[in-house]
Amino acid sequence: MANRRNLDSAHKGKKDEFYTQYEDVEREVNAYLDYDKDTFKDKTVLCPCDDPEWSSFTRYFAQNFKKLGLKKLITTSFANDSKFEDIRVEPSDYEKSSPNYDPNKTFTHGKVFVLERKPDGSCDVDMNDLKWTYLEGDGDFRSSEGKKLRNEADIIVTNPPFSLFREFVAWLMEANKKFLILGNQNAISYKEIYPLLIGGKMWIGCRFNERVNGKNLTYRVPDFYEMNACELYQDNNGDKYITVPGTGWFTNLDHGRRHQPLSLMSMEDNIKYSKHPAIKGQPYRKYDNCDAIDIPFVDSIPSDYDGLMGVPVTFFGKYCPEQFELVRFRKGDDGKDLCIDGKPTYFRVLIRRK
Ligand SMILES: C[S@@+](CC[C@H](N)C(=O)[O-])C[C@H]1O[C@@H](n2cnc3c(N)ncnc32)[C@H](O)[C@@H]1O
Repeated sequence: MANRRNLDSAHKGKKDEFYTQYEDVEREVNAYLDYDKDTFKDKTVLCPCDDPEWSSFTRYFAQNFKKLGLKKLITTSFANDSKFEDIRVEPSDYEKSSPNYDPNKTFTHGKVFVLERKPDGSCDVDMNDLKWTYLEGDGDFRSSEGKKLRNEADIIVTNPPFSLFREFVAWLMEANKKFLILGNQNAISYKEIYPLLIGGKMWIGCRFNERVNGKNLTYRVPDFYEMNACELYQDNNGDKYITVPGTGWFTNLDHGRRHQPLSLMSMEDNIKYSKHPAIKGQPYRKYDNCDAIDIPFVDSIPSDYDGLMGVPVTFFGKYCPEQFELVRFRKGDDGKDLCIDGKPTYFRVLIRRK
């Protein structure tokens, strides 16, 4: 990152360059390993939409290649001149000192980095064994090259550009791949995303919209990002970071947290003891257009109600498939938004106790 240089920051409003921190990749991957230590064993992992020279994803998977028992690691970068933000990043010394360096390709072509087991099958490799070349194109995940690499992979792990989140998920689904990706909570209510959550094709990862050590997920940002947002801060080395609440991991890899049922009170106890004034002392309200009760807070879901319940979207982060069934998103029996006394409620997901 130290070699990044801003030559033209005219388009400052548009931001896609958020870099995931090593400890966040490590903490999340560890959760899957705790559940099944062989999650990544003999697998080809692809990290697209990356900047492998300084990416935490590349570093994590390269450094842990042996521990995870990986078969192959492939990471790709997106060409400088194709990026959303109008910046020029000088090629690094690493790139310039390589026999592969080509000044005619450095800004316009993506790069692919590959780390493979040794010819004798040993996994004893590390960052120094990474080999790179320029891609034929700019490294767009949607290109034919991007699709070919996707098809070769078993598990795709990255923080894709948020502006292309829908397309990225469709790209994963098209090839029926295992994945672990970062995204924003807002994506849950996208019409392309919630059917996947309801249909069990994707779920919330281990960490989602959760503060760890008092902080939401925090991303490194390029030097040219202006320090005009309260979530931006600079460390003692001058490196810039942004804290983004509401972000977290989406996946279709299994993890233990997903199988921990919520600890809940009965309906009677909720009405007697709830800390929420909207619940305490009154019956749960029903929707006008669906035979279901409205539950405005996840911790107010009654443990003993057998009918349909409408719960906030934050429920997805607490969902345990053994405890509840996901039935429908947002709509009542008439196909219109769920409403009470003629007024639509906030986005709700209809669930039923198993
Ligand atoms: C949110 S950043 C994450 C970078 C890196 N994966 C990380 O987490 O540190 C998304 C990256 O995707 C790149 N990108 C944008 N559009 C892309 C596309 N169509 N194909 C591939 N990468 C793209 C952006 O330039 C940016 O570097």
